[in-house]
Amino acid sequence: MAGSERPRLLLVGGAGGFVGRALLPELETEYAIRSLHREPAPVETGRVEWLRGDVAGGVDWGRALSGVQVVVNLAWYRWASPERFDRLSIGLARLLDAATRARVRRFLQVSVPPAPEAMERSLPYLTGKRRFDRALAASGLSYRIVRPTMLFGPHDVLVSQMMRLMHRYPFFPMFGDGEYHVSPVAVDDLARLLRREAGRETVGTLDVGGPRRYRYRELTDGMFAALGKRPRYWRMSPRSALRLTRTMVFLGSTLLYPYEVEWLTSDLLGLPPFGGLDRPMQPVEPYLDAVAARLRGRRAG
Ligand SMILES: NC(=O)c1ccc[n+]([C@@H]2O[C@H](COP(=O)([O-])OP(=O)(O)OC[C@H]3O[C@@H](n4cnc5c(N)ncnc54)[C@H](OP(=O)(O)O)[C@@H]3O)[C@@H](O)[C@H]2O)c1
Repeated sequence: MAGSERPRLLLVGGAGGFVGRALLPELETEYAIRSLHREPAPVETGRVEWLRGDVAGGVDWGRALSGVQVVVNLAWYRWASPERFDRLSIGLARLLDAATRARVRRFLQVSVPPAPEAMERSLPYLTGKRRFDRALAASGLSYRIVRPTMLFGPHDVLVSQMMRLMHRYPFFPMFGDGEYHVSPVAVDDLARLLRREAGRETVGTLDVGGPRRYRYRELTDGMFAALGKRPRYWRMSPRSALRLTRTMVFLGSTLLYPYEVEWLTSDLLGLPPFGGLDRPMQPVEPYLDAVAARLRGRRAG
């Protein structure tokens, strides 16, 4: 199909973010893309039309949605004040209204897996997200809420940061016994899944785990092994880890937030593998080797 004849797809926030960078090349083969967020990103060249817009502020959704058949929302904050979460959540509700009026064919929302009850009840990061997810499910649109667990891939802010710390310092913090589970998903696999979902009609929520479920400690041991180092841990109770991350946030660090420690140690992040893709999902080990090679190359350089 010629470029101008391809159906239009709108990405709301995120094409410049971690997931967006993987998603754009995946979608470009099938869709003409309009990407709305605040700052232009290096991947938004050529056939991608970037619209400057803050979803939490005023967006002319009539214009942004004109000719759009599929909406994919990635916009959310990893850390913000309750007021900022509120504003973004209200902005997303406006988008949903406009998308319903415009009768878009499909609406995909990237959300997050289930969290401990107390967090689901009171953490603005989750309450705002779930409010939007519920509104989408009740909108009458053809929708899919995709909830991947921990993601890895180029520009990730978790796996590569953990390995950087292991590479640099003699000890790595271990929260509790490390027996809780994780099942990392390659961001490219999430991108393929979203492309598949954009073209389908099945509605509902899809929880997505990677091809293998690890004990957390097993994964961190694997990271040390990729770096050619013997695992050495600085053990701390989950409660001390919460205190540590609160102090880190207070000092301006964006490495890890207290709610992420609570979620991780709650043993809810080891989602079962998702089997619905055309190719097997990617294991994490080659990525660990690639990050390790980069870190070791940097030190050698
Ligand atoms: N990373 C993970 O491991 C993971 C796991 C599960 C689910 N998720 C979900 O996946 C989605 C994408 O995550 P990510 O890691 O790619 O996040 P990210 O790197 O922080 O990217 C988020 C994007 O949203 C845009 N954005 C944020 N606030 C906006 C606003 N008010 N108006 C317009 N655009 C806005 C940002 O672009 P600008 O700054 O240019 O506006 C940025 O490109 C999120 O909903 C997240 O909860 C992520």
